[in-house]
Amino acid sequence: MTTASAPGKIILFGEHAVVSGATALGGAIDLRASITVQDSPGSVVITTDDLVLKGFSLDLLSGRLSSPQAAYATRYISAVVSELDARDVSIEIKSSLPVSAGLGSSASIIVAAVMAISEHQGQSLSKEEIAAISYRLEKKVQDGLASPTDTALATFGGYLQISREISALDLPMLDLVVGYTGVAHNTKSEVEKVQRLKERYPDLVEPIFKAMGAISERAAPLIREKNTSELGGLMNINHGLLEAIGASSKELETLVYAARGAGGAAGAKLTGAGGGGCMIALPGPAGQETLMTAIRQAGGYPFSVKSGQEGVRLEKEP
Ligand code: PMV
Repeated sequence: MTTASAPGKIILFGEHAVVSGATALGGAIDLRASITVQDSPGSVVITTDDLVLKGFSLDLLSGRLSSPQAAYATRYISAVVSELDARDVSIEIKSSLPVSAGLGSSASIIVAAVMAISEHQGQSLSKEEIAAISYRLEKKVQDGLASPTDTALATFGGYLQISREISALDLPMLDLVVGYTGVAHNTKSEVEKVQRLKERYPDLVEPIFKAMGAISERAAPLIREKNTSELGGLMNINHGLLEAIGASSKELETLVYAARGAGGAAGAKLTGAGGGGCMIALPGPAGQETLMTAIRQAGGYPFSVKSGQEGVRLEKEP
């Protein structure tokens, strides 16, 4: 039996701007997906019984599917199974990451599956190899649309600065609250919408992207110093800019304002492509519980997370 787990991610600053080459900053979080591979002669079966993905099982040889929920996660696992030519195995998925929320659930499932299946076959891939294979597979399953950000964060963990290139940043862990709106988001359509706006008004949108990139670059030293108040202020500016380019939504605004108001957050912003999905907030002096209560009362689903977590790893057998 071989188990590997990989973290989800949040984008702290610079989403959308990064699509046009400006700098973004992302961090791996302590919500993880894990994949367990066991010998199962004569079949390739994918199962999950956790609450996020809802129970299903799929027999890849007979095509028997126990639940429609299977379609999402199995597309990714099937891609890994055929890439690594896995045979005679059962693959169990567990994930504490909500799906289609912008927290990188598909990337963490792919990355954990690439490590678990390859280790189970007796081959040890380097993290660079895992990241490269996972990025290629995520892109393939998503019809060419995937930035390497999610698979790189799921593989290497920590914090990554993303511009034309991806580089690791050595920064301390940060306590944050994620608020899920409960509304699934669609990265592709949000990115297309913002890019259309940029084509229509380049003189307006390009300076906004430039400002977002500048915020990302200012943020790293503030995380290092744990300067919560300035970091929170930058989150608020970044959110305002994202709202200006149409990436927010009524649900996201409700959670952002609840976090800053009753929640006493030092700052709050949407994270990822927007339109739905999640926001993030930095707890202020009132603390994390107050913040989570405010998000819950505003209709959101709060999770407390720590950013800067370890990337993909093998888990010891119980
Ligand atoms: O919604 P997510 O978490 O997949 O984030 C998308 C981030 C964008 O900058 C909007 C797109 C990208 O590929 O970087």
